Amino acid sequence: MRSPKDFFAPLAVGAPDPVREIPNPPSRMIHFFDPSNPKMAAKVPDLAPKVDVLLGNLEDGVTADRKEEARAGLVRIARDTDFGRTQLWTRVNSFDSPWALDDLITLVTEIGDKLDVIMVPKVEGARDIHYVDRLLAQLEARVGLRRPLLVHAILETAGGVANVEEIAGASPRMQGISLGPADLAASRRMKTTRVGGGHPGYLVRADPVGDDPHAGRTTYQQDLWHYTVARMVDACVAHGILPYYGPFGDIRDVVACEDQFRNAYLLGCVGAWSLHPAQIDIARKVFSPAPTEVAWARRVIAAMGDGTGAVMLDGKMQDDATVKQCRVVAELADALAE
Ligand code: GLV
Ligand code: MG
Repeated sequence: MRSPKDFFAPLAVGAPDPVREIPNPPSRMIHFFDPSNPKMAAKVPDLAPKVDVLLGNLEDGVTADRKEEARAGLVRIARDTDFGRTQLWTRVNSFDSPWALDDLITLVTEIGDKLDVIMVPKVEGARDIHYVDRLLAQLEARVGLRRPLLVHAILETAGGVANVEEIAGASPRMQGISLGPADLAASRRMKTTRVGGGHPGYLVRADPVGDDPHAGRTTYQQDLWHYTVARMVDACVAHGILPYYGPFGDIRDVVACEDQFRNAYLLGCVGAWSLHPAQIDIARKVFSPAPTEVAWARRVIAAMGDGTGAVMLDGKMQDDATVKQCRVVAELADALAE
C-alpha cells in the first residue's frame, strides 16, 4: 500500500525529523467546486492548471435535492477532464447522512483511478476513519484499483478536536486534516456567525492612557482559531500528515482572508481551501515562502556549514536549531519550484 509518506520529499541531510518533511506534490489551495452547478462545472478545465488541488464538493453547500446530481456530475467531470499535475479530491457527505455510503461506492467504483484524496467531514474520532478505511479497502479490491485512495479529515466538531491525535494516526491512508471553522463554531456553541477569521468582539485592549477608561485605548483583534490550528498542526506533524486551514467565507474581504491564511501558514499549515477564484492567488502567495525569507534561509544554511555550532549573521544568533528552521523554508521553496 502506498503510504502518505510518499507525499513527502526525501530529507536532504541528517536524521529523519518530521518537522523537516515537506509537501510533495503541493496543495497550497484546495479549490472547491459544486459538480451539480453546470456553470461551475464548465469552468473546471480552465481552473485545473491554475490550482494545486480541485475538489468536487458533495457535502454542505449542495442542496439535499441535488446530491445525486452532484455525484453524477463529479463522475462526468472526472472522466472528461485532463487534470494534468493537479490533484482531484472530493468531499463526501458525512457519515450521519443518507448519502455518504452511495458517495463512496459510486465514486470509487466509477472514478477511483482519477481521485487522489477523499475528504471526510465532521470526523469525531478514529472510528470514522476506520470505517472509511475498511470500506475503501473493499471497494478498491472489488474494482481492482492499484493505487490506494488517501483520506483527509475535517476537524469541525468539539469531539473531533478532543480526539485529533487518534484521528491523525488512525490509518496509513491519512493524508491530512483541515480546520472547519463554521461547523466547529456551531458545535462548540461559539457566538460567531462568520466562516473563519477574527471577530470585532474578540480582542485585546491596551491600558487606558489617563483616568478615563474609555479614552484612546488601542485594540487588537485576536485569532479565534489559534488554539485549534496549533493543536491540529501538532497532531498532524506528530503523525507525518499535513495540516490545512479550511474556508474563509467573506470572499470580498481579501485582506482578512490573507491574514487568516498567513496565521495558519506561520503556525505550520501547508494550504487552505479556496471557495472563489479570488482566493486562489491569495493562497498561492501566502503558502509559498517569500523570496526574502528564502534568501535569508539560504544565507543561514550556507553560513552554518555542517549545521552545528553558532554564528552571528546581521546581529542575529544562528545555531543548530535555527538552521533547521531555515531548512523548512528552503526545502519548501525547492519543492514548489519542481
Ligand atoms: C467547513 O466545512 C466548515 O464547517 O467550516
Ligand atoms: Mg463544515
